[in-house]
Amino acid sequence: MKPLRIGLLGIGTVGGGTFDVLTRNAEEISRRAGRPITITHVADKATALAEKVVAGRATITDDAFALVKNPDIDVIIELIGGYGIAKQLILEAIANGKHVVTANKALLALHGNEIFAAARAKGVIVAFEAAVAGGIPIIKALREGLVANRIEWIAGIINGTTNFILSEMRSKGLSFTEVLKTAQAKGYAEADPTFDIEGVDAGHKISILAAIAFGIPLSFVKAHVEGITKIEAKDIRYAEEMGYRIKLLGLARRREAGIELRVHPTLIPAKRLIANVEGVMNAVLVKGDAVGATLYYGAGAGASPTASAVIADLVDIARLIDADASHRVPYLAFQHDRIGTEPVLSMDDVETSYYLRLRVDDKPGVLADITRVLADNQISIDAMLQKEPEEGEAQADIILLTHETIEKNVKRAIAAIEAQPSTSGKIVLLRLENLA
Ligand code: HSE
Repeated sequence: MKPLRIGLLGIGTVGGGTFDVLTRNAEEISRRAGRPITITHVADKATALAEKVVAGRATITDDAFALVKNPDIDVIIELIGGYGIAKQLILEAIANGKHVVTANKALLALHGNEIFAAARAKGVIVAFEAAVAGGIPIIKALREGLVANRIEWIAGIINGTTNFILSEMRSKGLSFTEVLKTAQAKGYAEADPTFDIEGVDAGHKISILAAIAFGIPLSFVKAHVEGITKIEAKDIRYAEEMGYRIKLLGLARRREAGIELRVHPTLIPAKRLIANVEGVMNAVLVKGDAVGATLYYGAGAGASPTASAVIADLVDIARLIDADASHRVPYLAFQHDRIGTEPVLSMDDVETSYYLRLRVDDKPGVLADITRVLADNQISIDAMLQKEPEEGEAQADIILLTHETIEKNVKRAIAAIEAQPSTSGKIVLLRLENLA
């Protein structure tokens, strides 16, 4: 059978990995796909670097637009990233009838609805396994393996940089700033790590997972996104003393009133498997009504793991390219005319449990005043820890864990407690999920 001819846009880390794995495992991949899969053209601004990887095995150009028009290319792999040129190239590739494989979660989270509509109109595939959790086949699992289920919730450690930072803070007792510097020196964190540490990257990824899990449009703009920059070493320590670990979770949960879609640092019981996912590794926990809880673990980034996902998409395309479009798995798992209209809930309406750290005068009646405010706001306390005041200090840290409640009640209670004269400064609020 004639080879599937690929045009690769961007031969950096993941592009280079894709080239290597496709070459190394060519025979095995062709036995599975039913035809050889060959990168025939590569576009990259750094043509000399591209030549080093390609070593004469593909045609190299610095003109990506020439590739998306080239009639001798069947599939475009987009590994440029970002929303600008990558979007233009993908839309032009689609307009030219080419199938597309992309790892670009930012682009899909913001413009996926438009891109999939264009692809559907042209009858081409846009595949994106590499966009979420690198090498973990979580898109495949959600779209196909779990198709029988009504998905109830997803909780994922889907950003390796922040998981590395939180793991190091916990194991070495270091501050966020100290660990970030090490992560940058080791190349784990980008020179500009904003998207990772502010939770934006995880927000892109959970928006994609939520769309596929619940059959809703891509809704990143409505997601609550909060990063890890304000996490203090003492919160990690206190959480641990109470049997919890702090992880940056992407959460998507179906409620009666709508969908919760949120990224924030989260306490989870230390005994959960997912709490023990350390360093740059990723893991996604999916709760389906039939299957129960299922956990997917693996490398969330890196050349070969991400290439593994890109090539899985290429094999799917090789198998389906001649099939009628109606036989394909829908882009967002649900038929396009059956996409739901459930609203994404505002953070005020989210229901979860809370970790509250307060700094208060260590004298009689203070705790009673606090618990009265909580009771007045229908907040039930699950556990409490009081730290002795440091030498020479008159104030103590109190940590309260609550049962599940509604966020707006907690915000109201916090405002009331902060107004009490026995409380100093701002109360630290973190959310807690039992993931049971
Ligand atoms: N920057 C991402 C992370 C990897 O730290 O997990 C690519 O998605």
